[in-house]
Amino acid sequence: MTPQDRILQLRSELHQHNHNYYVLNQPTISDKDFDLLMKELEALEREHPEMADPNSSTQRVGSDITSDFEQVAHRYPMLSLGNTYNREEVREFYERVESELGQGQFSICCELKFDGLSISLIYERGQLVRALTRGDGQQGDDVTANVRTIRSIPLQLPDGTDYPDELEIRGEVLLPYSSFERLNEEQEAAGKPLFANPRNAASGTLKSKDSRVVAHRQLDAYLYYIPSPLPSPSHYDALQQARQWGFKVSEHMRVAHSLQDIYDYIDHWDEERRNLPVATDGIVLKVNDLRQQQALGYTAKTPRWAIAYKFPAERALTPLEEVTFQVGRTGAVTPVANMAPVHLAGTTVRRATLHNEDYIRQLDLHEGDWVYVEKAGEIIPQVVGVEANKRPTDARPVVFITHCPECGAPLTRYEGEAANYCTNEATCPPQIKGRIEHFVSRDAMNIDSLGSEKVSRYYDLGIISDIGDLYTLRQRFAESTGFFGTTPEGKLLQQEFGGTKSKSGEKAFQGIEASWSVPFERVLYALGIRFVGKVVAKILAQHFRSIDALMQATEEQLTEVEGVGPAIAQSVVHYLSLPRSQELISQLRAAGLQMQMKEAEHLSDALMGKSIVISGTFTHHSRDEYKALIEAHGGKNVSSISKKTTFILAGDAMGPSKMQKAASLGVPLVTEEEFLAML
Ligand code: IVH
Repeated sequence: MTPQDRILQLRSELHQHNHNYYVLNQPTISDKDFDLLMKELEALEREHPEMADPNSSTQRVGSDITSDFEQVAHRYPMLSLGNTYNREEVREFYERVESELGQGQFSICCELKFDGLSISLIYERGQLVRALTRGDGQQGDDVTANVRTIRSIPLQLPDGTDYPDELEIRGEVLLPYSSFERLNEEQEAAGKPLFANPRNAASGTLKSKDSRVVAHRQLDAYLYYIPSPLPSPSHYDALQQARQWGFKVSEHMRVAHSLQDIYDYIDHWDEERRNLPVATDGIVLKVNDLRQQQALGYTAKTPRWAIAYKFPAERALTPLEEVTFQVGRTGAVTPVANMAPVHLAGTTVRRATLHNEDYIRQLDLHEGDWVYVEKAGEIIPQVVGVEANKRPTDARPVVFITHCPECGAPLTRYEGEAANYCTNEATCPPQIKGRIEHFVSRDAMNIDSLGSEKVSRYYDLGIISDIGDLYTLRQRFAESTGFFGTTPEGKLLQQEFGGTKSKSGEKAFQGIEASWSVPFERVLYALGIRFVGKVVAKILAQHFRSIDALMQATEEQLTEVEGVGPAIAQSVVHYLSLPRSQELISQLRAAGLQMQMKEAEHLSDALMGKSIVISGTFTHHSRDEYKALIEAHGGKNVSSISKKTTFILAGDAMGPSKMQKAASLGVPLVTEEEFLAML
């Protein structure tokens, strides 16, 4: 057998095993043997680059080639469905269909309504050629590279099955509960924000620019609609056929012949959906016969032959044990209901938000009340009602606290706001922690060598007590030897940043130091001034050009700037007048942070005449920031590696093909740290 034939044979075998594992849940070989076949194919493909195929199983891992998604027009518009929340409207739908098609002349296909995001897959002669999101229904984003990493989606339909040459099939991409939980654990461990629910996570993932991220997150897909022409007369049969072609089609579709059949289906799944591995938010009813579908036709936005019935949000009743109060980074105090554990939409719930003081009053919440809790698609459960009939006779109303549970300072309510705030901005621990977390966050100084967990830990240990302390860490660590190594702080610094952890210590210091190049507008945002979000920070930075000019500005001058209202102006003036703010600003200035807009983009000639390729993922700066840095220092950004490339600025997880190319052309790799040192 020639290597070329072996490649084709391996591809076909691997597609079959992939299907057995991810669609049928019935693997026929061990993981180890699967890996062996995969390795063999990888090796052969490396030796025979002329045989490259984006639909090979080896491409399921994704690649680091990032590009913006191209907008592509849908061949068949992607419509949505008419929604209803009540059975009465289901009956109306049924009766309308019956009056148009005739009693006993039609059947209805009942399906689960999967809660993810819709996708359209296009196959030509059995090969996946394109995957589009819904977009505005007329055109969607081309997410083919990402979709290729979803293992339950066939890349190539099996030979010998009678799939049409041109096939468009639609369905839902989703993240199973188990993968969702794993993902959020990883996010939490990395100090990154959690996803609110599996749908948001699936949608964020599918729109990720790095297909390796997608491959890692284990998306899944169910297919439920074929808009392209089909030989079979019914929707149900067409989907059973699609299952033969390798698609994951739900086993829970049923054909109903009466309204009662439909109600039975709804009743069954309203309960049973709790046991499914993926999120569903209703059921979909479709007239089964394809010609009848055509006859019923479409309104502007939805088919007249289908309707979605949405399940009511799950709700549980449980006794309230205690109301506690949480202080956030802005000092806002949120009341939380602590309840007897209760099962709700797949998880055990013990705590639910009560939002604010007014909400507690509206609920007329009393101590010892039984409360109704809902998740309504979100992770955070909320109390939505009180069962007054179960109230103990002498129960007292729940009252809002008057002082901060963390620092004891009095609370206050600002005009027009629902939240109560702790007034001790200067020394209330969660507020300080929150400010530091905000300061290091991605959109602010982007010091991701210090996630929010580390910040919180260093604060609790007493190593940092405010933002300015970040910039003395390296020096204090260096001094924490000899005699100082025996002081409590010295010991802690050695323990956190020295010894075997020295590498991560050095990384943390470098991450902090890299913030000298963060532009002024982001430094301003990072300060965490009330009402000064990213947009306002940019407006202020562009208008006043420097922190000194901003500090001189009066409320009046501030409100003259377009986009700055009185509340913002007042907040900025107040913040900048505080001695602790002024002290922080001089600490940051001394540390070398940008306190004014850069006038000249040209910083140095350090990279003059050098052609540089950026590849991989980075810790200290984003790709865009590196591109800007290269140009500011006289260098040239190039996108592909050639003999003329001076070096590659190589981050983590650089793609193997780029690595090979660099090696074969003898182009050196430069790490992030080495690069920053050059500047
Ligand atoms: S059929 C022309 N079937 O619900 C009809 N849609 O609210 C095409 N969905 O955009 C859609 N499960 O993203 C259909 N079994 C199912 C579905 C389903 C989930 C989603 C789909 C659609 C939305 C409409």
